[in-house]
Amino acid sequence: MKILGIETSCDETAVCIIEATGELSRGNVRFSVLGNALYSQVETHRPYGGVFPNLAKREHAKNLVPMLSVALKQADLLHSLATSSVRFSLTEVEKMLEREQGLFELLKNVLTAHKKPVIDVLAVTAGPGLEPALWVGVNFAKALSLAWDVPIVAVNHMEGHIVISAVKDEHIAPLDFPVLALLISGGHTELVLMKEWFHYEKVGQTRDDAVGEAFDKVARLLGLPYPGGPEISRLAKEAREKNILAPFPLPRAMLQSGDLDFSFSGLKTAVRRELEKLDGGHPMSVNVKMGVAREFEEAVADVFAAKVRDAFEQTGARTFIVGGGVAANDYIKQRLSDMIEKEFPKVEMRVCLAERATDNALMIALAGYLRAQRGNFAKPEDLVANGNLSLV
Ligand code: KG4
Ligand code: ZN
Repeated sequence: MKILGIETSCDETAVCIIEATGELSRGNVRFSVLGNALYSQVETHRPYGGVFPNLAKREHAKNLVPMLSVALKQADLLHSLATSSVRFSLTEVEKMLEREQGLFELLKNVLTAHKKPVIDVLAVTAGPGLEPALWVGVNFAKALSLAWDVPIVAVNHMEGHIVISAVKDEHIAPLDFPVLALLISGGHTELVLMKEWFHYEKVGQTRDDAVGEAFDKVARLLGLPYPGGPEISRLAKEAREKNILAPFPLPRAMLQSGDLDFSFSGLKTAVRRELEKLDGGHPMSVNVKMGVAREFEEAVADVFAAKVRDAFEQTGARTFIVGGGVAANDYIKQRLSDMIEKEFPKVEMRVCLAERATDNALMIALAGYLRAQRGNFAKPEDLVANGNLSLV
């Protein structure tokens, strides 16, 4: 089955085409990536130090069709002939895209220049995320579905992070349930228990900021560019190599809370207060930045290690999945895998490759495949973007 995945929930405009086979129940789901195109909007949002929803929407509308063209070209599907002929009425497609300025004009060129490609399913992120941004992808999927007469599957972005993180050696090997998933991204920080596939129970979550948001905010305090995660991680690594310590300790919040919840806003506030005390009108030295980055990353890793330990003790889960953009962080991954190996040696840990941890359309296409196999198709007229879409 060929699936075309579309992701526009935040600041990555991504289209991916995969060919997938096999079934979860047989543990033989395999896939190959035929085309994968991603446009990162970081440069657009950098001056604002975070993602600006309406700018994101505009950028998605501008870049979705070019990404579609690249993915189709890589997959060598631009000129492929489908058995049935193109069914679309351009007027209907135009109506579908009336809310996404300029998108129709771009798509029209692609639709009229090429034959219908052989795509079996469209998978699009329906939420959670920035709603104006999500709508662009959703309307785009509806327009393509109409034009190509292909069914749509609405994908939960967080399920996408879970599914891609469950991949091992390019296939989804059987999971030993219950599975505990730590989902850490720019918008989410949660511990989810899965007793079986597609059955989710939230056992812990952040009470304020998401961890990726904390990385981004602390980076800003240190004068580092957006997105802050990779920058902090790079400085922290250098600090460890050079044995540079922070000029002050940072708190490890919620360790005694008795539940599996997190809090990261205090950490950010502590960094701000301490930096103000240090400052005295002087510009921050590189060593201070390195030391703070290190202490911050270690504080986050300490909290995750402690909460994940508690979660395994409480749930008896047998598999550990880590997903979301912050799962690209080598240090956090290492700390978690050291803890699991030492304290829960029977637990299998699965984390995706760093480039698949941050938002991409491969994860949406793959989750879309699993949902399509269950017959979870969306009626285009009922399909909506939902910024707060929940897993449970
Ligand atoms: O999953 P994602 O791409 O988007 C959301 O769904 O939110 O996650 C983005 C977040 C950003 O906050 C970014 O700073 C963080 O992931 N991030 C990292 C690293 N790479 C990306 N955080 C820590 N270390 C990294 N290496
Ligand atoms: Zn994400």
